[in-house]
Amino acid sequence: MLDPEKYENNKSVAARDAAEFVPKIIEIMEWKNNHENILDYGCGAGSTGYNFILPQVEKFESHLYSVDISEPMLEFARNKYSHPRITYGKGDIEKDFPWENVKFDKIFSIYVLHFISDIRNALKRFYNIMNPGGFFGFTLVPKSYYRTSFKILGESEKWKGYMKGYEDHILQWMEYEDGKGHEVITNILQSIGFNIVKLEVVQRSFQFNDMNTYLELYLSINPFLKSIPEDLHPSFKDDLRRYVTDFAGIPFDSEQIISKYEFVLAVVQKPQ
Ligand SMILES: C[S@@+](CC[C@H](N)C(=O)[O-])C[C@H]1O[C@@H](n2cnc3c(N)ncnc32)[C@H](O)[C@@H]1O
Repeated sequence: MLDPEKYENNKSVAARDAAEFVPKIIEIMEWKNNHENILDYGCGAGSTGYNFILPQVEKFESHLYSVDISEPMLEFARNKYSHPRITYGKGDIEKDFPWENVKFDKIFSIYVLHFISDIRNALKRFYNIMNPGGFFGFTLVPKSYYRTSFKILGESEKWKGYMKGYEDHILQWMEYEDGKGHEVITNILQSIGFNIVKLEVVQRSFQFNDMNTYLELYLSINPFLKSIPEDLHPSFKDDLRRYVTDFAGIPFDSEQIISKYEFVLAVVQKPQ
């Protein structure tokens, strides 16, 4: 189970990026019409949509549909970020999308698409639920210690019994040669029919002054934790700490860590 409270409390890095890049995505999209249908795909615990998309939705008297695959995330969002202009729904673009009859004019998806293994199929479906001329803006992380750690821990004797199916989280379409993520995603988007309005690779780093926050952020979105008995969680966290500190080349007991990562920021348009 994902942990919305932990995610919200520890998402400083994701919150910083959302505050900077959602307004940028909004600026790149064209806003001419009122009464649009806007989708926040993978809305998580709701704060990104509420804080950064909703003001624009209100300005254009539009409606925000916020969907996530995780019921705990949605429950948190419904409690904390409810609004007459937001409808929350549970679903997955590939299987059971909740609003089959709604066509969207804008789609946002912030730090979600790297959780989807069949990205071509998912992007085709996004294309199909958009109105002609609609915009789709997203950020995704093509390579991250988060997913590569699944391989190390998922193959270890100690954790493999609890991490069955970890291979499904290693995304074949991204985990290949370094630095080519944007080319792969560009080709897929164009082959589906999207026009690329903007697609850039952004290099970032974020200093965590408290290693615990860093580890808790990871754990809050780790899909395997629910299979691991609670009394083993401290040991799992220790092994994770070993992995990330080795990866960063710093001592195991370091309290600070600089997380270096890159992400793809894209705004694409369905032709008129
Ligand atoms: C890193 S969080 C980002 C949440 C939110 N966009 C934000 O900016 O805080 C990723 C979210 O994607 C959701 N997610 C993962 N796979 C998904 C899928 N296939 N369909 C919908 N949501 C998904 C997770 O449940 C989680 O809430």
